[in-house]
Amino acid sequence: MYATGQTKSLQQLTTALLDKVKKEKISPKDDIAGLREALRFHEYRYYILNDPLIADFEYDQLYKSLEKIEAQHPELLTSDSPTMRVAKGLTKEFPPAPHLVPMLSLENSYNEQDLIDWDRKARELAKANQIEYCVEPKFDGASISLIYENDLLARGATRGNGVTGDEITINIKQIRSVPLSVKLSEYGLQQIEIRGEVLLNKANFKKYNDQLVEQNLPPLANPRNAAAGSLRIKDPKEVSRRNLEAFLYHISHYATLPGAPVHKLLETHSGSLELLWELGFRSPVKEKQIFKGIEAVIKYCHEFEEKRDDLPYEIDGMVIKVNQLELQDQLGMTTHHPRWAIAYKFAARQATSKLKAIEFQVGRTGSITPVAKIEPVPIGGVTVGSISLFNEEVIREKDLMIGDTVLVERAGDVIPYIVKSLPEVRTGKEQAIVFPTKCPVCHDKLVKTPDEAVWRCVNISCEAQVLLRMIHFTSKDAMDIRGLGEAIIQKFYDLGFLKDIPGIYELPYDKIRSLEGFGEKSMTNLQAAITASKEQPLHRLIYALGIRYVGETTAKTLAHAVKHLLDFAQFSLEDLKNLEDVGPKVAGSIYQFFHNPDNIHMLQQLEALGLKLKNDKKDLVADGNLTGQTFLFTGTLPTLKRNEAEALVEANGGKLLGSVSSKLNYLVAGEEAGSKLEKAKKITSIKIINEAEFLSLVNR
Ligand code: IVH
Repeated sequence: MYATGQTKSLQQLTTALLDKVKKEKISPKDDIAGLREALRFHEYRYYILNDPLIADFEYDQLYKSLEKIEAQHPELLTSDSPTMRVAKGLTKEFPPAPHLVPMLSLENSYNEQDLIDWDRKARELAKANQIEYCVEPKFDGASISLIYENDLLARGATRGNGVTGDEITINIKQIRSVPLSVKLSEYGLQQIEIRGEVLLNKANFKKYNDQLVEQNLPPLANPRNAAAGSLRIKDPKEVSRRNLEAFLYHISHYATLPGAPVHKLLETHSGSLELLWELGFRSPVKEKQIFKGIEAVIKYCHEFEEKRDDLPYEIDGMVIKVNQLELQDQLGMTTHHPRWAIAYKFAARQATSKLKAIEFQVGRTGSITPVAKIEPVPIGGVTVGSISLFNEEVIREKDLMIGDTVLVERAGDVIPYIVKSLPEVRTGKEQAIVFPTKCPVCHDKLVKTPDEAVWRCVNISCEAQVLLRMIHFTSKDAMDIRGLGEAIIQKFYDLGFLKDIPGIYELPYDKIRSLEGFGEKSMTNLQAAITASKEQPLHRLIYALGIRYVGETTAKTLAHAVKHLLDFAQFSLEDLKNLEDVGPKVAGSIYQFFHNPDNIHMLQQLEALGLKLKNDKKDLVADGNLTGQTFLFTGTLPTLKRNEAEALVEANGGKLLGSVSSKLNYLVAGEEAGSKLEKAKKITSIKIINEAEFLSLVNR
């Protein structure tokens, strides 16, 4: 889409703009077009080519600079400005969106013979000896339809029933690889309707699922469901956070500008993929290949299947399309499928098996997870025998009984899951699954709160939990104590050498030395690893404590908020909720943890054993323009990120407060400031200022 010469001049433009930003010499009127052009170019490099030319923070500088100009000069706003992806507020409903051309599905084929038969029929109909085919991946996501008119994105829709979908333009705009404007006019086009697939790549899918699991929620089954679900979220900001991607692979309709000829690229399917690419869409131009005859097509399908697991996103097959569009028209369609295309589906990553038993496992936080034990079956090269069911509701929802035949799916490297049971083939000998009322390990009574889906063992001395807490404490991302893994912890526990977390720092080395398999070398290494762990920064220790809902990110926020870990014992629920990204649920869990005397005792023991509970940085109270003043931030600031602003306060001797109270001197309010602002307005001693005013205090 960008010629080499253009790339060069856009890069020069970028450098010049960055320089102006730095020197605060950006001119709203003269630079706004350049900023937009540069941002679009870098979005293209990043999201389409996967080959960025500038650092993220440089992009952010340009973006913020554009945002600032647009805020000050609303008259200069355009609907396709790179800033216009971000929508504020919530979507109420998705209105119906009739497709210009119905979205048909493809006929499926599963083996070589299916393809050979399909090719023969097509040749008969076309009265041709050989047909030219274009072959490309079948993306496993959620299908969408986009309409562009007069060079602008006019509408985005889901497939719906194929005739009418839901209008989801706002959500589509959150997908960075979907351009907001394209130069249709340069190709003689006034309008196009295009089809594509929205997906969540494997890495982002995993990240998202890890977050769900961290919150004790059942993870999503596969990236396809995740993509489809994401498109229907009513909060566009959340959609944006999911990092969706889109491949566009089909022009279903176009209208030319008055008098303009049909562009040459629109004579073939591969040409239309190239046209889409030139316009700035992510179309499968690199993945597609053209072949004459079905034999070569089959070979390419097999080759691609081999590469399946190496791709960053999921595909579930290949799509074979007749390349000449005129021939496509001639072949037409059946009631359900076009005759000019077929899907070749890869070997299923599904299999049926028998549900033999349910095991109930106790987690680190006492949650009871039912795990299905199935007759082991190979799925996509891995033998699956155990499948987590997450909670009781899942068992009910899927109507599972012991002895049932179940359909199991394993998408890529995703954890396997039970799609459904097959009640049709029940024999009558199946047994209902009885959820235990007592902990399978310590036999204490299980409890379930109304706001949760899981049953829990609340006995914090429950052996299962004690062991898992220690295993988590020593794990790589926590205190990283190598040599003290799961098996050794279990062994030391069974031998009575280790009973709780502080015990890790008081291991009876004399006794361990006499154990078989514990040479002097491994002892020294273990001792060294344990000693070294005492120096881990506070956020690691917080994460290692395994407080419910406190993952690595929240742990960092917490570490930043106090001078000493035990300060949290003095925090109110409200104080906790005022921390960045700490919602009521997380705050409740942290509050409980620091109001449990056993936990406080454990932390005191750890400190006495030499672990660092102090936040070193907090001690260095700087002297500066903000000394003696207290600050709190709310809402989104125009240029500073929250943590940058907070760092400025501390670096200049100011103090950050967690909530609005009479102790507060300044509330720095940004856009979409909420309850804190309202509260502060009621306390007359608090000065409410904006970012610019804050910065002038800092630089006074
Ligand atoms: S072509 C009329 N090409 O697979 C033909 N579809 O049932 C339009 N899909 O609903 C579809 N990758 O969501 C086509 N490269 C590709 C595709 C693809 C994925 C999806 C699409 C469609 C389903 C087939």
